[in-house]
Amino acid sequence: MPRIAPVVPALLLTFAALSACTGDGGGVDGTPGGSGLRDPYFPKAGNGGYDVTHYALTLAYDPGTRHLTGTADITARAAKDLSAFDLDLKGLTVRDVTVEGAGARFSRAGQELTVRPHDELPKGRTFRVTVRYAGTPETITDADGSQEGWVYTEDGALGLGEPVGSMAWFPGNHHPSDKATYDITVTVPQGLAAVSNGELADRTTRDGRATFHWHTAEPMASYLATVGIGRYDLRRATVGDDRLPVWTAVDPVSAKDAAPVLARLPEVMDWLRDNFGPYPFASTGALVEREEDATYALETQTRPFFPGAPDTITFVHELAHQWYGDSVTPKTWRDMWLNEGFATYAEWLWAEDHGGQSAQQRFAELYEHGEDEYEDLWDFPPGRPGSAADISANPVYQRGAMVLHKIRQTVGDDAFYDLIQGWAAAHRHGNASTADFIAYVERQAPDEDFSAIWSDWLYGQGRPAHA
Ligand code: TRP
Ligand code: ZN
Repeated sequence: MPRIAPVVPALLLTFAALSACTGDGGGVDGTPGGSGLRDPYFPKAGNGGYDVTHYALTLAYDPGTRHLTGTADITARAAKDLSAFDLDLKGLTVRDVTVEGAGARFSRAGQELTVRPHDELPKGRTFRVTVRYAGTPETITDADGSQEGWVYTEDGALGLGEPVGSMAWFPGNHHPSDKATYDITVTVPQGLAAVSNGELADRTTRDGRATFHWHTAEPMASYLATVGIGRYDLRRATVGDDRLPVWTAVDPVSAKDAAPVLARLPEVMDWLRDNFGPYPFASTGALVEREEDATYALETQTRPFFPGAPDTITFVHELAHQWYGDSVTPKTWRDMWLNEGFATYAEWLWAEDHGGQSAQQRFAELYEHGEDEYEDLWDFPPGRPGSAADISANPVYQRGAMVLHKIRQTVGDDAFYDLIQGWAAAHRHGNASTADFIAYVERQAPDEDFSAIWSDWLYGQGRPAHA
């Protein structure tokens, strides 16, 4: 099908009128799904009008040429009568698009790939859209200056998605509220490995190229999807009485330093399960690159990413995210403290249980002298970051953890552990907002008054007057 220029309103009208009178959509008179989900911090992220249920991504990448070819087979359900819908894709060249096997028209403007199916899609219809694309993927610079998207490494590349990097390597509904299952198949030159989320379902070698097929059966937000391509040592082990599969991929340069912390995975997983409840996924593990390849760790689902060997506390942080962030995912980017406050509080609990300072000591230290450690600590409340550049800033992490500690002080230890386990259980594999959290806490402890915690610690400007 021909490529069309970015849609002008007149053109849109023509298509709608045409399909309405030919009855192509079986009497459906749909409208476009809409670009963006009006996220308060990333308004263009995601798209309206449909929900993705599954992504089947078939990728081939050669680090020598930096050329990626991809086929994204996306299964989605129309949430309304659709004449057109958007996918987010940044850079790359789209070769063709089909919907339900029929050629579809498409146009591109910025990060929006607008698809106009031959037949309109009635509300409730499950449909399949296939996008074939290729090119040299972009590294995206975040609002806060960090690098995401397709990150080039010494011997390969990394797909890193938080918050909006995944659109650099596959088209999709790139907002945390639309979770889906995944099959990610990557072909690379023989000698390299390709690691991704979930379990390795298949691995083949042919004509000097190696193909790795990874399967994720639990819902995953697209910012947690990852692919690592490089000269990794890729290994499978198991952990726990239930012999949960563990996949680790380690750059040989980091292997010696990573070995002692990776050896603690069984102990860390046991501790996390004891504290937070059943592990939500079918495998665990880690992806360890070289220190110079990225500047941050990321809680990519089942396979947290580390730039170089992590220290134990970072390891605990990213694995704690599997419960808080990956299984229970924020509804919007404003709810980021539900990720980072919990993962930071997990660090405090770990220290408390392993001979370090207690969470109460850590809380008091931050309250008294926090500005020496983080000069921006009191700049904004965790529940309302100032802008997109602030969603990964210290107040979200540290003040977010302080909110949880205030709740613990209020309800006591036993009720607190029940509460955080119950939160993971209540929204397992789903999405939740800060409003959901407040309502949940108040429902669980109806006799307590949390109003000052919400007004001063979660939403209050500046340092609260009382610890
Ligand atoms: N969410 C990651 C973590 O805390 C960290 C992270 C990802 C980050 N992207 C970032 C931090 C960008 C600062 C800037 O586990
Ligand atoms: Zn984190």
